[in-house]
Amino acid sequence: MTIARKWDYAKILGARLLSEANDLKRTPEIMAAELRLSVDFIRSALAGATGAAEVQALARRMAEVYPISLASIWLEPDDTVDGIKHMSAADARATARVIPRSLPDGRTVPYFEYWDTAMSRTAPFKPEVVRQLHVVDDSDADNPAVAFNKGHLMHQLTFYVGEVNFYWKVNGVPRCAEMNTGDSSYVVPFVPHSFTSRNPDKPGYIIAVTYAGPVRFALDDFCRVGPEAADALAGSNVDRNAAFLDLLDRHLAAESLSREELAERLTDRGLDRGRAEALTSGRQAATESEIVAMATCLCIRPKDLMASAGNDEGGVVVTRAADRVVRGYPSGNRPAYRLAELARTPYQPQLKAFELTVLADDATHSADMRHGLHEYIFNYGEAETTLHHENGRKFALGAGDSAYVRPMVGRRFTRRSATEEPSLLIVRVPGAMTEAAIEEFGGFDRSGRHRVTGESTRWY
Ligand SMILES: [Fe+2]
Repeated sequence: MTIARKWDYAKILGARLLSEANDLKRTPEIMAAELRLSVDFIRSALAGATGAAEVQALARRMAEVYPISLASIWLEPDDTVDGIKHMSAADARATARVIPRSLPDGRTVPYFEYWDTAMSRTAPFKPEVVRQLHVVDDSDADNPAVAFNKGHLMHQLTFYVGEVNFYWKVNGVPRCAEMNTGDSSYVVPFVPHSFTSRNPDKPGYIIAVTYAGPVRFALDDFCRVGPEAADALAGSNVDRNAAFLDLLDRHLAAESLSREELAERLTDRGLDRGRAEALTSGRQAATESEIVAMATCLCIRPKDLMASAGNDEGGVVVTRAADRVVRGYPSGNRPAYRLAELARTPYQPQLKAFELTVLADDATHSADMRHGLHEYIFNYGEAETTLHHENGRKFALGAGDSAYVRPMVGRRFTRRSATEEPSLLIVRVPGAMTEAAIEEFGGFDRSGRHRVTGESTRWY
């Protein structure tokens, strides 16, 4: 069953503008007078009955006249084919550019060669093939021939092909791991890192899948609030207890309630006064039932008080090929794929990366996959595979080809050769459609859920 949406850009953007006009309590007649446009034009644009350019022009005009941001009403045109964007290895190779780096030892050398791979403006990824042109003769983390970057805002899942050294810094102290084909790593934003090759005869490469998380999508607010205030809001987060107090203080500040007043409310609910004060000051950790009591006092859910500390190991996870969890999919006697789980971290619970080996020879013995995450695919092996869209469209994925697949699009893979098993890197992330966003959507009145992306009438 196909449940992925058929995409009509003008209609969806028109519906979004209508929703905004409703919120502003503006009828087409009022808009016509205020925006100095004809009523007929506005009606047609809101209904998506004009071309896309006309609906975009109305969006720009609304952002000029009304106190609303263009970003909040804009919708990027879809650059995928039914939710899939494909890029061939030849097109990727054509984007190759070499970027030199200055080394701590004073030399400036060709360091990385970057290739773009499948990228959609509707997706949170900026995935690249990065070839390590710079070769080192040891795996010393302090090697003065290694140029670190300063880290970046994007999260990064890295997959390694060949003999590549991975370097990163924790609290200014450099570390190095010798990586090989099938190894993977995750690095948290702003951890400085670098990569070099260990084999001068066969330099390795990485597939660096950088992606935006919720902070990137809330960047406007973070910019306006400023770095000091955002830092204060997040707190120290050094351990679970500190993280709990930071979280509790955010809830208390939102309620304009003091820790003492919360302790009083807990005492009113039957808790011992001393215990209540110990909990709200963080001197003692709350039990499950006490968390429920605190949540009830604040009119929030117990899970809103579940705090997690910052990252262990400085926010870097290294997963060796030999240590991966490997399983068949679907489980049973004749799996269509073999899945090896790559670097994972509870800090990014919706980052799911795999090496996927295609075992199915034909579509009948293959298996559908559908999930709510954005998916990036790179064929790093030699064997070709076919990516089947649920609507029957097929995309060939040869060596070095890549693709992006939109959330909730059903897809399956088959191999082209009976003897060669294609090896794909798969990386899934939520983008802006996080579990929190889906949960909010799930709480809407069910009769109105379809209107979220398709307002077609005046609601008031
Ligand atoms: Fe990076």
